[in-house]
Amino acid sequence: MKKFIAYNEQADRGLDILSRGAFLTSAHNGKTNVMTIAWGSFSFAWKKPVFMAMVRPSRFSHDLIEASGEFTVSIPFSDMKQAIAICGSRSGRDTDKIAAADLKMLPSEKINTPVINTPGLHYECKIICRQQMTPEDTAELVKSECYASGDFHTLYFGEIVSSYVIE
Ligand SMILES: Cc1cc2nc3c(=O)[nH]c(=O)nc-3n(C[C@H](O)[C@H](O)[C@H](O)COP(=O)(O)O)c2cc1C
Repeated sequence: MKKFIAYNEQADRGLDILSRGAFLTSAHNGKTNVMTIAWGSFSFAWKKPVFMAMVRPSRFSHDLIEASGEFTVSIPFSDMKQAIAICGSRSGRDTDKIAAADLKMLPSEKINTPVINTPGLHYECKIICRQQMTPEDTAELVKSECYASGDFHTLYFGEIVSSYVIE
């Protein structure tokens, strides 16, 4: 059963689960892909509820998001360790991860990119701003810990146009 919630209604719970692994789905031209994410934030900016996702340019998801301008975030309540491992280690360029991880997709309410049909928190996001991280703007400690090989994240600020719990 789907229950609509305010974007920040379960943000604490969402961030707690996210830090251990959640899913970002992107889609373009009939191709849908799921990648694991652990970093991101809920915020209110530009008069809108926003989810900020961090995606490295090397990811196939980056290509799909650039082309579609949207993404969804699915934060599972149940233990999905195996799917998190598959979607966080293989690339959609050469693997159908939805089949490999046995994920079931559900059409979104307001955008073309689906969510994962699993108990959890789900956010449909339309990108209203993107920002490319640069070495010049990043602290040395963060660079050495997170960007030894470059590939600085693109920050995608997605307006949350629909948010709900699947129970
Ligand atoms: C727990 C976990 C969290 C991750 N978080 C992110 C993230 O926030 N941003 C990112 O760009 N990659 C992240 N990754 C790596 C991607 O999920 C991984 O490179 C994936 O294979 C990319 O898939 P794609 O090429 O199909 O987009 C994470 C991986 C794991 C295992």
